Amino acid sequence: MVNEKDTNTESVPVRGQWTGHLGFILAATGSAIGLGNIWKFPYITGEYGGGAFVLVYLICVVVVGLPLMIAEMMIGRRTQENPVGAFQKLHHRGSPWQITGWLGVASGFFILSFYSVVAGWAVAYTFKAIIGFTGSPEQIQNQFTELVTSPIDSILWHTVFMAMCIAIVMGGVRQGIERWSKILMPMLFLILIGLMFYGLFFTRGGSEALKFLFQPDFSKLSAEAVLSALGHAFFTLSLGMGAMITYGSYMKRNESIMKDAVTVSFLDTFIALMAGTAIFSLVFHYGMEPGQSVGLIFKTLPVLFKETGPLISVPFFILLVFAALTSAISLLEVVVSYFIDERGWGRVKSTLLLGLAIYIFGLLSAISSITLPFRGKDQGIFDILDFVTTNYMLPVGGLLTCLFTAWVFREADKIEEFGSKGSIYHLFSIIVKIITPIAVIIIILHGLELLPFMNYGNK
Ligand code: TRP
Repeated sequence: MVNEKDTNTESVPVRGQWTGHLGFILAATGSAIGLGNIWKFPYITGEYGGGAFVLVYLICVVVVGLPLMIAEMMIGRRTQENPVGAFQKLHHRGSPWQITGWLGVASGFFILSFYSVVAGWAVAYTFKAIIGFTGSPEQIQNQFTELVTSPIDSILWHTVFMAMCIAIVMGGVRQGIERWSKILMPMLFLILIGLMFYGLFFTRGGSEALKFLFQPDFSKLSAEAVLSALGHAFFTLSLGMGAMITYGSYMKRNESIMKDAVTVSFLDTFIALMAGTAIFSLVFHYGMEPGQSVGLIFKTLPVLFKETGPLISVPFFILLVFAALTSAISLLEVVVSYFIDERGWGRVKSTLLLGLAIYIFGLLSAISSITLPFRGKDQGIFDILDFVTTNYMLPVGGLLTCLFTAWVFREADKIEEFGSKGSIYHLFSIIVKIITPIAVIIIILHGLELLPFMNYGNK
């Protein structure tokens, strides 16, 4: 029976569990580190003008992201449940708080549908790297435009990526996710360190890249940039939709949630900053535009890879695909575990049916030419989904999770999960009760241009 779960036994888990502490850290880090760090962080930083955006994002990671990651892991480990079940178990059956879980399952569904399309581009670039990048920088950059405007190619690679994702999630938590992370995550780390050092010391763009990333210019900070910085903190840390609830539910009793959350958030942020430094060094070295939208990494890195050859480029794209896979798996796992736990479906059936549904929905994002009027311009389904899920659905999901943790989650249970009730726990309580919710509410209202004391008129 899938539904038989005993929170107190460690030795015979009915639910899958990570094989060890390292297993959990790797899986959670694997979920956090993905296209969000290497593809999305550089491109939105470029769009929103650099330093000031990065600063707001870093503040959001510490003030909103870290406490929320702790909260999600606590809820998951306490309940041993999927997000929908977890909120009911801690409150009561049929509790309205389960809406938070529903929102999370929906977010996972929508995010994976476009995430897989971008991951598909990375798969395509693995093959382009094997063949080798040739021609002028413009010709190399045009390859990206050709890829995204060809529906057949986009669909093909989206198909390949979703198939890999479904195959892994079907195999279950332990075998599927853990085994590969142990080898490939450290490799990704090494290759990024290499690229960052190359960018900093062997190109002419290194110091300009550091200035761009770390010297805030607040005149460039629009309301939308602040909202996107918050949204991105959620996105990159895999928060606001119950992914860390689901992963926490497979976590063992004797681990310190706080330490793990700090480790995961730190590694995630570090990887993003390394990727950003590497990419902007190249952008400035070649005199390119920072604001190149979704194509940024696919347009800049291959220009360098033409010189370094396949020995660097092929491993890079393979590792990027892998990083995307470990993240995509966590998105699919949230959706799938809901149907396993709450609907009593088998893992195979649940993964196949939902994976297929997400795949089909993702076709809309793969065909980027379908546009709708949105925020004053015609935008592709892809951009709309990304904007709405990242900037509204995740923050609202996170806000509800935070309020739940602060006001509904029983104090004694929280202390037990946190592992102590000393001053750090008090700090955590205050942040979750007051600071995080207020910050999220203000930023969402600001993003909607609804803050009473701001003047949005002269835009
Ligand atoms: N964090 C991942 C990345 O940066 C994406 C991701 C995985 C995610 N699981 C998530 C985003 C859950 C939001 C919620 O690429």
